[in-house]
Amino acid sequence: MAREHTANIDGGDGAALPEDPGLACDALVSGRIDRFLAARRPPTPCLVVDLEIVAARYRALRALLPDATIFYAVKANPSAAVIATLAALGASFDLASEGEMRRCRELGIGAERLSFGNTIKRAAEIGKARGEGVDLFAFDSGAELEKIARCAPGAGVFCRLLVQGRGAQWPLSRKFGCVPEMAVDLLQRAKGLGLRPLGVSFHVGSQQTEPLRWRSAIASAARVFHGSARFGLDLDLLNVGGGFPAQYRVAIPPLAAYAEAIARGLADYFSGSPPRLIVEPGRYLVGDAGILRSTVLLVSRKSRHAHRRWVYLDAGRYNGLAETLGERIHYAIRTSRAGSPSESAILAGPTCDSADVIYNRADYRLPVDLAIGDTVDFLSAGAYTASYASVEFNGFTPIQSYWV
Ligand SMILES: Cc1ncc(COP(=O)(O)O)c(C=O)c1O
Repeated sequence: MAREHTANIDGGDGAALPEDPGLACDALVSGRIDRFLAARRPPTPCLVVDLEIVAARYRALRALLPDATIFYAVKANPSAAVIATLAALGASFDLASEGEMRRCRELGIGAERLSFGNTIKRAAEIGKARGEGVDLFAFDSGAELEKIARCAPGAGVFCRLLVQGRGAQWPLSRKFGCVPEMAVDLLQRAKGLGLRPLGVSFHVGSQQTEPLRWRSAIASAARVFHGSARFGLDLDLLNVGGGFPAQYRVAIPPLAAYAEAIARGLADYFSGSPPRLIVEPGRYLVGDAGILRSTVLLVSRKSRHAHRRWVYLDAGRYNGLAETLGERIHYAIRTSRAGSPSESAILAGPTCDSADVIYNRADYRLPVDLAIGDTVDFLSAGAYTASYASVEFNGFTPIQSYWV
């Protein structure tokens, strides 16, 4: 196989540039994944995940936040192999649905290690989770609280706070959470409904590139703790969510900067009595552990004089690359062509949907001799890819996953 390289990221005028000699960024490339791809040549598109990287990420986070309980956000990559790897290391799990709960339970994970973190649950799911023994439920509204009180009487609950998603490449703001004043009211109401109000949670936005975003969110959480104390509530749980980044094209701060921002926030705003700390990483644990391999189906131009090529792949928005929506997540890319100059290209997926364009505004440079049948790899693609694939759209089968 030809030496692989990554797409260059600079330029934008369509002129051919020399081949980018190295990776477009510091994206981690696993030798184990490369050996697997070379030996097995699996049909594409496919995702290959290196479980040793997942484990290493868990250990790194564990070391930097030794007092936190780590709840892996299953939604980031719900494969049994990933869940089992993290379970063996002692992780707990944040669930979005009954389906994720089943998967964890089938792997023998105890209900005391599960938290139902979605603030929009079906009543029946709440009942089933409670029946299994789950005792941690998120809410951000009175109506959800009433559902939980009805279907999981006596359960432990925490209120999700609304926070700004600034600094996040995949923000989770607006849809989730409530303002601190409302959280104080709701936590009080939880007690009145026979639930156990434990504390608060927030999520500063996924792929958060600014560690200090945790500081302001911790300050809001402290307001809720203090406000609730005035009503006699003794909250002791602080869930600082996920948001820790993977390495895409843009450089990110080291994990230690995130841990430090959280530790300082806790010291400054919870000086007297630090709360029980929960983190819910998804992307950080699995993102850099995966490579999504695709194959070029077509290279074309819209006119003889058009300077940008269209490169159509067998992977696209609907089978793995959903987070290129709005061109928010910029994966580092490498191809099976080497030694050629590169030039700007538009990357698109295989469906008959004009929204299935992967990158147009973002400048991706690909080798000038890239041809049908060549491979294009999306690096750091272990999170929010395979699990996002549509099942029926245009009749393409969902992306296949492999683990090494
Ligand atoms: C409640 C909750 N916790 C944790 C996460 C994981 O976030 P990330 O992948 O950014 O770490 C998410 C992501 O959507 C979430 O909704």
